[in-house]
Amino acid sequence: GYRLWLKYDPIDNADVQQAYRQHAANWFVAGNSATTQVIKDELDFALKGLLGEASATDAESAGLIVAAGDNATVYRQKLKIETADLGDEGYLIQQVRWQNKPRLVVLANTDVGALYGTFHLLRLMQTQQNLENVALRSAPKTQLRVLNHWDNLDRHVERGYAGQSIWDWHKLPDYRYQRYFDYARANASVGINGTVLNNVNADPLILTSQYLDKVKALADIFRPYGIKVYLSVKFSSPQLIGGLKSSDPLDKKVQAWWKNKADEIYQAIPDFGGFLVKANSEGQPGPGDFGRTHAQGANMLAQALAPHGGVVMWRAFVYANEKNEERSKQAYSEFKPLDGKFDDNVLVQVKNGPIDFQPREPVNALFGATPQTPLMMEFQITMEYLGFSTHFVYLGPMYEEVLKTDTFAKGKGSTVASVIDGELYDYPITGMAGVANIGTDRNWTGHIMLQSNWYVFGRMAWNPSISSATVADEWVRMTLSNDNEVVTKVKDMMMASHEATVNYMTPLGLHHIMGAGHHYGPAPWVDSLGRADWNSVYYHQANSKGIGFDRSPSGVNAVEQYFSPLKEEYANPATTPEKYLLWFHHLPWEYNVASSGRTLWSEIVHRYYQGANTVKEMANTWDSLEGKIDPWQFHQVQMAMTIQQKEAIWWRNACVLYFQQFAELPIPEGLEKPE
Ligand code: GCU
Repeated sequence: GYRLWLKYDPIDNADVQQAYRQHAANWFVAGNSATTQVIKDELDFALKGLLGEASATDAESAGLIVAAGDNATVYRQKLKIETADLGDEGYLIQQVRWQNKPRLVVLANTDVGALYGTFHLLRLMQTQQNLENVALRSAPKTQLRVLNHWDNLDRHVERGYAGQSIWDWHKLPDYRYQRYFDYARANASVGINGTVLNNVNADPLILTSQYLDKVKALADIFRPYGIKVYLSVKFSSPQLIGGLKSSDPLDKKVQAWWKNKADEIYQAIPDFGGFLVKANSEGQPGPGDFGRTHAQGANMLAQALAPHGGVVMWRAFVYANEKNEERSKQAYSEFKPLDGKFDDNVLVQVKNGPIDFQPREPVNALFGATPQTPLMMEFQITMEYLGFSTHFVYLGPMYEEVLKTDTFAKGKGSTVASVIDGELYDYPITGMAGVANIGTDRNWTGHIMLQSNWYVFGRMAWNPSISSATVADEWVRMTLSNDNEVVTKVKDMMMASHEATVNYMTPLGLHHIMGAGHHYGPAPWVDSLGRADWNSVYYHQANSKGIGFDRSPSGVNAVEQYFSPLKEEYANPATTPEKYLLWFHHLPWEYNVASSGRTLWSEIVHRYYQGANTVKEMANTWDSLEGKIDPWQFHQVQMAMTIQQKEAIWWRNACVLYFQQFAELPIPEGLEKPE
């Protein structure tokens, strides 16, 4: 599993391989930058793997020419190809006639654009696409495509399920693992151009000169791959490592401290990306400690970074016990009034849903609500609340569901994708962040199938409109097999996996009923944690009459935060999409569920059974692929599927039996009795 989707095994179809040899067995990359060296290395490695033989040559004899910037001028002019619209990171791949020979050209305005184009071309070959007359152009729709590592400096990864942190702080800056380079290759291959190295619950030591030396070493490794390094910072750093008495953002000494710190960082890392901040959230310090707003805190940091071109990604994941407002409403209440108050180099980073990374949530009402403040998406790639790295859940369909959701902010068609890619409000900066699922496990993500979530995150950050099914198809072909039977079956499993998990964990809008603290396994009975809104019973509100959280106008009225017609739709159970039913409503057990005609109790039970059954079918399908997939990959996934099958039944039985105490109704006929 180490090679991820960049396996480059020989193409098993002789005709296809022959055709590709004509295009790419002799290649030429123009230029001598560090990035063009990366392109050359990748082509050498990949094409030798895919085609058996391939070598670099000169421009005259090459079948494949990769060129960017000034090195591409001659091709642009003679071939009359325009590249201005491709921007700094886009590229084109085209078959042309050059000096009387057919050639493939990858052209871009920058070397990094050419690197992305090269990876795209390799993807076409790995998935065995026809390259005759190819003519495609691509440019990213969002600017910052960033992984967030929740990695602590002692290498423990918060909510990480794939081993330790891949950053070996002890051996940095001098020891440079091959893994760092392969990490950069994998990211560049899907267009990820930034990495926040450390946990949002930040250790202030990351900003000491000792650690900055280590950060610089990583930044130097990643630079040729177009990847910028960012850091999570602790808001009280001026006090904790700076010896100041305060961290008040309006205090001149505090401002000067951050300015000097930024200057120091940029001295070492001239293209440093900026800061990610979790402030006044879950016990973290923030501007609120000094009576200041999030905007005042963010702007102070933004002003320190601005002269160097850095940005602040300020998280909207805030909720506090003292607020006396229901948790799902707090991000909106806090940030909506601050719209327009942030400096130009600040983005507000919002989790897709209003609570946390639940298996399914409606979108956060903030999307679309801040015309003057760029909102950045924060998706989970790691699997907190979702079965860690033993459950196979392809998150592509979940990301797609979120991105396609219409917020109606400016009327119909105001999708979340159009908010975050800047189209709706013409945001000056745009971005998407994904909380990484990467660790030191040999297969990187703890479960081979979960590599697909890293992959799809990158592909969707580049193009939020791409379909998750398309991405699943290419990922399977690159990672597992090009055999059509394998592709069809695995793709079907992937596409079914998210809905299956929602069904066996939290069907119909239920949420946050997992084990306390670790968030693994079912625990709808949790009722004794320090804060009400950490307890399961708070979220499902089951009693003898019914179940669900009333966020409609008769309850906490969270629906009012959405634009019309969503707010009216969500206010009424009859028009609320069934997938969000119990998120917005507390309903009687005998409530009629329209799609099936069943009572609510019966529908809940059916969904739990359906979820567990789908996992069983997935496991059977996987078993049928034995001999068609690399045996090591096959076996690893099979072992994990066995766990998932057991645990889907654990979830089903625990939840059904628990809720039955309140409903006092029998298990519907035809379903086996849970034990
Ligand atoms: C969740 C998660 C924490 C994390 C937090 C965050 O609450 O359980 O571990 O720190 O999200 O996103 O900041």
